[in-house]
Amino acid sequence: MTDGVTSIRPAGGRRYTTCGDLRRDHVGRTVTLKGWVHRRRDHGGLIFLDLRDRYGITQVVANPEHSPAAHTVAERIRAEYVLSVTGQVVARPEGTVNPSLSTGEIEVLADRIEILNPAKTPPFPIAEEADVDESLRLEFRYLDLRRARLQRNLLLRHQVVRFVRQYLEERDFVEIETPMLIKSTPEGARDYVVPSRLFPGQFYALPQSPQQLKQLLMVAGFDRYYQIARCMRDEDLRADRQPEFTQIDLEMSFVDVEDVIELVEGLYTELFERFASKPLLRKPFPRLTFSEAMLRYGSDKPDLRFGLEIADVTDAFRHTSFGVFRAVADDGGVIRGFAVPGFADAPRSQLDRLTEIARTFGAKGLVWLALHQEEGQLTARSPVAKFLRPDEIVRVAADLGAVPGDLLLLVADREQIASTVLGRLRLHVGRERRLIDERVHALCWVIDPPLFEWNAEENRWEAMHHPFTSPRDEDLALLESDTGRVRAKAYDLVADGYELGTGSIRIHRRDVQNRIFALMGYDDDEIERRFGHLLRAFEYGAPPHGGMAPGLDRTVMILAGESSLREVIAFPKNQRAQDLMLGAPSPLDEKQLRELHLRVVDSDEEALRMRD
Ligand code: AMO
Ligand code: AMP
Repeated sequence: MTDGVTSIRPAGGRRYTTCGDLRRDHVGRTVTLKGWVHRRRDHGGLIFLDLRDRYGITQVVANPEHSPAAHTVAERIRAEYVLSVTGQVVARPEGTVNPSLSTGEIEVLADRIEILNPAKTPPFPIAEEADVDESLRLEFRYLDLRRARLQRNLLLRHQVVRFVRQYLEERDFVEIETPMLIKSTPEGARDYVVPSRLFPGQFYALPQSPQQLKQLLMVAGFDRYYQIARCMRDEDLRADRQPEFTQIDLEMSFVDVEDVIELVEGLYTELFERFASKPLLRKPFPRLTFSEAMLRYGSDKPDLRFGLEIADVTDAFRHTSFGVFRAVADDGGVIRGFAVPGFADAPRSQLDRLTEIARTFGAKGLVWLALHQEEGQLTARSPVAKFLRPDEIVRVAADLGAVPGDLLLLVADREQIASTVLGRLRLHVGRERRLIDERVHALCWVIDPPLFEWNAEENRWEAMHHPFTSPRDEDLALLESDTGRVRAKAYDLVADGYELGTGSIRIHRRDVQNRIFALMGYDDDEIERRFGHLLRAFEYGAPPHGGMAPGLDRTVMILAGESSLREVIAFPKNQRAQDLMLGAPSPLDEKQLRELHLRVVDSDEEALRMRD
């Protein structure tokens, strides 16, 4: 049924006009609008209805003198009712034009209003940006999704994905789907698993990423693969982690580090220039080696939107009589710190609080030095001032690029602890002192990380990225002799202090892969059981290959200016991995459990009894 009216945009293939279509040019046309009641205002006589859909808002007027029938219906209407309205497009009277609406120059004078469906009063207002308890938003997500913010974010997400596809397809990438039911392999996060009905006691794993499958696609000769890939990881959640998330997963054959970086940097430059509301701080993206990032920013995902750079000042205190520093320096530890410009007059209470915060980050203490100038002489106010010689103060100030009026913050400890404590303290002070330049986005690469990190609990080497990452050629000889120093052909893309994506050149030779697994403490049996499929494939002519997987959710979160992934995912889980709308996870009934050969036990003891 067309009511004798045609869509303003027949190309859209619909027989009605959307709530974002109408302009002054359409005045005089008869149209049919369909949508939700955003707001209703009864002016005693005239009733105004703001009708809303994805495309916009159009004002509808029910005038009892023009159409008594339409006005009678309008009297019953409430917010969020679904309507079909037919009427004439008229220019808004002088002085009532609404410049904030794209349809603000017109309104639709209703001839006929049909209620397609009434609505209960929603648990929170749809039309306002009001703060609403997040669990209520998640429980009624379909209503939350009607609101402007999430509509905007999900449309942005759609545009980003469309652009990514276009960018990659122009460069010969093919999109290939990989399975969701795969095999559990160790490393990485905890798997989500699915019990097999046909094979009692056996399980599929949901993919943490398509890593092995995309490598096998390279062995299969597809040359360039991508997938907007769903990944599942059962890990502790944070604002930038969801148990289910999406990667822009890609893999390329016959490439080296530079090729992947160039491709992804091109993509991200365009993505940010098209879709972000703020400019990029620097182009091309700066590159930091992992060790440089750890030294200067105390983080493998440095936020480059502000200074407060960390430096090593151990040498300034080699011969100090301040016992704490001397002991750490003599013991092979480091003394590091940074200068906070113009903060020398910070009140004592604030400095004590900084010390407390440093302790919660794992520091044994924090030394602060407030630099002043007295009679041309650099002096420091500090609880440990009496232990420090004037030349030490001059030297540490110079090493940290500090001047009178600055505050120095110093931590002495084992390198790794000093570095991460200061990295966190830098972020804390940067935020608190509002030093972070929120008007720009700062992207950078962090390259050449170590291949392995030592797992002290399990007493073994662990892959820092994943076990398929290639060592750098010049470090291959150190693999067994100086394992900790071997660097990887790996690269991380970082934006505003978030890890956006990671990638690497992979090992494509079975002998090298075997050495890596052996170093990680796997014996031959276990290697065969866990990774046999991949190693076998490498024996049939695997091309050199590498790739990357930027996180789509994090990318859209940053582009949208949000600080939680939940604002850019249609149906996210809460911090406890629950879907509050569907009510998942939920118990299974007895029959389902029986089919899956599962039994729910109430306690660890019962589980142990069953095992015996
Ligand atoms: P990785 O495990 O580093 O690498 O993940 C790559 C990117 O995926 C995103 N990401 C997440 N996003 C939201 N919630 C999570 N729980 C979550 N976990 C990861 C991040 C991260 O940078 N296969 C390799 C990549 C490769 O080598 O090609 C991989 O999965 O943005
Ligand atoms: P203490 O000797 O523990 O009383 O500490 C003397 C001062 O040195 C205090 O201001 C501590 O906060 C500080 N301090 C102690 N240990 C460290 C450390 N490892 N790094 C930096 N400052 C420290």
